[in-house]
Amino acid sequence: MLSDIQHETVIILDFGSQYTQLIARRVREAGVYCEILPFNTPIERIAARQPKGLILSGSPSSVYQQDAPRPDSKLLQAAKCPLLGICYGLQILAFDMGGEVAASPNREFGYARLKVLDETSRLFQGLPSEMDVWMSHGDQVTSVPPGFRVTALTDDALNAMEDVERGIFGVQFHPEVAHTPLGAQILRNFLFSICGCRGDWSPKAVIQEQKNRIREAVGETGRVVSGLSGGVDSTVAAALVHQAIGDRQTCIFVDNGLLREGEFESTLALLQQKMQLNVVGVCARDLFITGLKGISEPEEKRKLIGKVFIDVFDREAHRLGDVNFLVQGTLYPDVIESVSVRGPSAVIKSHHNVGGLPEKMKLKLIEPLRELFKDEVRLIGRELGVPEEILTRHPFPGPGLAVRIIGEVNEERVRLLQAADRILDEELRSANLYHSVWQAFPVLLPVSTVGVMGDERTYEKVVAIRAVTSVDGMTADWARLPHELLARVSSRIISEIRGVNRVVYDISSKPPSTIEWE
Ligand code: XMP
Repeated sequence: MLSDIQHETVIILDFGSQYTQLIARRVREAGVYCEILPFNTPIERIAARQPKGLILSGSPSSVYQQDAPRPDSKLLQAAKCPLLGICYGLQILAFDMGGEVAASPNREFGYARLKVLDETSRLFQGLPSEMDVWMSHGDQVTSVPPGFRVTALTDDALNAMEDVERGIFGVQFHPEVAHTPLGAQILRNFLFSICGCRGDWSPKAVIQEQKNRIREAVGETGRVVSGLSGGVDSTVAAALVHQAIGDRQTCIFVDNGLLREGEFESTLALLQQKMQLNVVGVCARDLFITGLKGISEPEEKRKLIGKVFIDVFDREAHRLGDVNFLVQGTLYPDVIESVSVRGPSAVIKSHHNVGGLPEKMKLKLIEPLRELFKDEVRLIGRELGVPEEILTRHPFPGPGLAVRIIGEVNEERVRLLQAADRILDEELRSANLYHSVWQAFPVLLPVSTVGVMGDERTYEKVVAIRAVTSVDGMTADWARLPHELLARVSSRIISEIRGVNRVVYDISSKPPSTIEWE
């Protein structure tokens, strides 16, 4: 049995709001561990987590619809902790307890001015009597249930209610979004003043707890293998395991020939020399490039790359002999059984870079980042001494440059794209804009266009530049890079790279486009 250091836990019930993960991140930022569970999770399962507080998220539904999402019918009687309903969460509490909810005559979207009626309310403790809040709702509570007081209003609607005796609170606005400037304070009031949390979730505490768990799982003699990609997640996971069990972990870093120019060598040096990790670097470029011959369909490329990776990794792991555990950098967003995150969505792109490994290799999994959001992984990485260069690197897809070469991949195309990528990277950094964008990369298009160089007609390839801003990669906007920067990138790519005579800039957002072109 793993040692389970009990954190104070807050449970967020997800009714399908686009902001559910944001609530969780705000709670964690306040230093309180929280988990997201589906709205209809049975009360027994909730109670087993011994939550200090429960938060009911928003939802696109209306409470009076027949198929509206409802919590366990025993939730209100059986919950032994304070409750906070946000937007739909407030409405479902009001509705289920005998209040009234109706469509608003004036639907409120965007900023509204909140007037606090009762400054003794612990939810608004220490806050001004008027403040800006962010609204997004079509329904409103028109009459509160027995026992409740209205504690805040906007011009258009009742905006907060509470029943202090029973510890039930609700707000119509969204305290979790950045557009509610004092929202974090309102959530902190709920967590600390109302739920009595102390705030025991910090990078140091997480590291200590994970190290203990890893040591207990692996035992005195167990041996562990990790796959490194050069990205944040796998590096931080390996750094944690390294602190727990040292060189009983062997990391495998595969050069698939589809990385950025010089990246395999420079990352390997960082991992081995700066981080002192026990890393085996495996050059398997030819296997990947040969395997990709004749393949131009994006999902087929991903499958082939995934399969070759598993074969290479499996072979190398067998060379190590007796290994019992595999480390994976799975993050919390991958495991949330959330309505808003999972939903009934179709697979747009399969991101299964190491899927299938554990079954094939009969290894037990160690997933030390399973409870963390990406920004928490960075904080922990920093605490563990992972180089900034790795922590602040732009995300890079597992199948690498293969999904940025439209059509068939070959060595010459990879070299060409690597050169364009280096130029873009150099220019972005020298303009001090590398950290202002989420990702920026060139894409090699399979079309030739006519140009003129000197007096000669040319007929050469097109490179598209993609640069986006984003907070999580789920949605993105094209980056408004300065024209001068784009001009430098374009002229350098065309003059320094033989075979390219045209550069274009991608001005599509996600959705409806995706970040990568394939
Ligand atoms: P899309 O293109 O789906 O990308 O908008 C969202 C984020 O995911 C990255 N991406 C991948 N990452 N394997 C990965 O590990 C993949 O197959 C893959 N495809 C896209 C992409 O770079 C962006 O950050």
